[in-house]
Amino acid sequence: MNLFEQITSIKDERVVAARELASAAGRERARKCLLEGEEILEWALAANVPIEQVFFHAKIGEHPLLTRLHAAQIPCYAVTDGILKKISDTAYLIPFLGVGNIAHILSEPTPLQDFVVLLNDVRDYGNLGTILRTARAFGIHDILTTSPQADVWYKKVVEASRGKVFDIRLQRFPSPEAACAELHRQGFQIVATSPRAPTLQSVARLQPKPIALVVGNETEGVCDAVFSQADLVVQIPMSGQVESLNVGVATGISVYELKLKLVMAMLTNYIRSTLGRDVNVAGKLIQQALDARLRSVSAFNSAQVIFLMVLKCDQTMSIEHVGKDMAMFGDELQALLDPLRTEGLIHEESGLLRLTEKGELLLGQFWSIVESTEDELLQGFSADERQQFRDFLRRLHANCIRVMTPQA
Ligand SMILES: C[S@@+](CC[C@H](N)C(=O)[O-])C[C@H]1O[C@@H](n2cnc3c(N)ncnc32)[C@H](O)[C@@H]1O
Repeated sequence: MNLFEQITSIKDERVVAARELASAAGRERARKCLLEGEEILEWALAANVPIEQVFFHAKIGEHPLLTRLHAAQIPCYAVTDGILKKISDTAYLIPFLGVGNIAHILSEPTPLQDFVVLLNDVRDYGNLGTILRTARAFGIHDILTTSPQADVWYKKVVEASRGKVFDIRLQRFPSPEAACAELHRQGFQIVATSPRAPTLQSVARLQPKPIALVVGNETEGVCDAVFSQADLVVQIPMSGQVESLNVGVATGISVYELKLKLVMAMLTNYIRSTLGRDVNVAGKLIQQALDARLRSVSAFNSAQVIFLMVLKCDQTMSIEHVGKDMAMFGDELQALLDPLRTEGLIHEESGLLRLTEKGELLLGQFWSIVESTEDELLQGFSADERQQFRDFLRRLHANCIRVMTPQA
């Protein structure tokens, strides 16, 4: 594949296909969008948007962006300024134009997160971009719209969102009624907003369940169909005889306040299901199950058997090393090692612990118990699921280490 091929004809099929993307209808048909300019291309790269090709001005020499695109095996075509202007449909020159595939952003998100924003016919490109950027800043991924043709890949939306449009999941509904029905079916409470709502947002009583925040069109506001389905309609108080807030600003205020309120309303559920707690409980249960199996055939527990396995791998270990490896110290560490010494499974020489012959022999027998217990614990998991489960754990370990590593 020639990554820096030249295209000189406006009739080249790659140019013709890219020109289609200057219009909303073309983007909709192709499920692709134009990535106009260096900054937008950088945002798309950072968000892992599949970039199918990039057209760049033939006069550009070596350029760091081209080097990165080349390294990512993205075909880049040198073209004239006339071709670039035709593709972008502008009178001015944009020296880099990419084609990004956005089908994944539109794939149905299952399940939705606990807080979603439903755009009820919000139209202004700047407002759309601001809302997407604000939503991502508050950890929201799922943006829903009541407009089946909502097009958020127009350059002005991409710019106003600072590229966050590439980092959302967009679900478009055929009508406001369809959106509300689906949200209720999925257990959401619908919180609509209006400058004339009867309830102040800050004192609204939320139910302890996921929120769909609805914000309305710049002129008409939220439509009647949504109001009639809403569980709550809330207002952000204003003074100074202002009629309403800009919808982007109102969304920011509502997301911030309602997210906080939702956390408080759902606190007990959240605490019960934090990742750390779930993994901790699972880890303890696994250990207890293994202990139960081992105790039925020996006087040793899972920590001792796991230590014997580690010692077999490392050959020798200092007591200090054992403490660190098993996260045990003082009396607890002695209680782990003493029975193994007394039974002659390990011995100590010049401050280093080793497995004895008896220890090696017993370890072989313990191993089959560990293996069969693990098999029981993973009962009902297919071979693929077992592999996936191990992969998930490995990725979780790597992420934990990344979180613990101080940032440069
Ligand atoms: C410019 S306003 C629409 C004004 C429209 N004439 C109306 O009365 O609803 C656009 C959207 O921003 C949100 N909004 C604006 N001001 C608000 C306020 N004070 N309280 C709650 N939501 C507000 C609502 O979602 C509203 O539909």
